[in-house]
Amino acid sequence: MSTASFTMFRLVFVCCFSILLLLMSTSMQTISAATTDKGCIITYKKFIKTACNSTTYPKICYKTLSPNAPAIRTDPYKLFNIALSVTLNATSKASSSIHSLLKMKGLSTSEKENIGDCAETTDDTIYDLQKSLKTLANLQGSDHKAEEMSDLNTWVSAALTYEYTCTDEFEGQKVREAVKNTINKSVLYLAKLTSNCLDLFQLLD
Ligand SMILES: *[C@@H]1O[C@H](CO)[C@@H](O)[C@H](O)[C@H]1NC(C)=O
Ligand SMILES: *[C@@H]1O[C@H](CO)[C@@H](O)[C@H](O)[C@H]1NC(C)=O
Ligand SMILES: *[C@@H]1O[C@H](CO)[C@@H](O)[C@H](O)[C@H]1NC(C)=O
Repeated sequence: MSTASFTMFRLVFVCCFSILLLLMSTSMQTISAATTDKGCIITYKKFIKTACNSTTYPKICYKTLSPNAPAIRTDPYKLFNIALSVTLNATSKASSSIHSLLKMKGLSTSEKENIGDCAETTDDTIYDLQKSLKTLANLQGSDHKAEEMSDLNTWVSAALTYEYTCTDEFEGQKVREAVKNTINKSVLYLAKLTSNCLDLFQLLD
């Protein structure tokens, strides 16, 4: 091998080796970032688990909130925010199914009345949850924090009351069981989500 080609060989070797090192360090960084990320997610999920432990329905709480761990991190305000958002979304879904029940043919007058009342209370719940989310968004650093905290408590409690008003009205009414069952099921689920929201609200300072 001539000196020139040896130098060339060395150059190529050093160059390739550097690229290899670079690639290795990049992938090591990716791996370590992924590991840190995973470690964080475990921490975030543990935070949610502990918070949910203080609620009346811890299983539903954890099931609905843990998929949002990356957004919640360990922030109780964000946790409450997502809990409200989960509840609002479930309420919107229940509302559309109750409104479509109302369009069913052959409903008796009392059925129409009862289902109509449920549609109304569900919509009231939606309104209160939306109001709560709006207030919550500007709560931290607000000059009226104490007042707004009290409003939040009032609105979320009211949402829970509306939900129970709907199913309580069924008692002793001539509404077919299938309709009662459908509405009970979705409304009771909402009531559980909402009740958990109230419990998670207690974690805010
Ligand atoms: C949740 O509560 C249970 C029983 O009350 C307890 O055994 C468990 O350690 C708690 N988990 C967390 C993460 O706080
Ligand atoms: C609720 O629904 C909205 C609109 O579809 C969506 O953007 C949001 O992510 C949902 N919230 C949760 C917590 O799933
Ligand atoms: C629906 O809920 C109400 C009140 O919680 C209860 O009285 C009623 O028995 C339930 N109906 C059905 C069909 O589950």
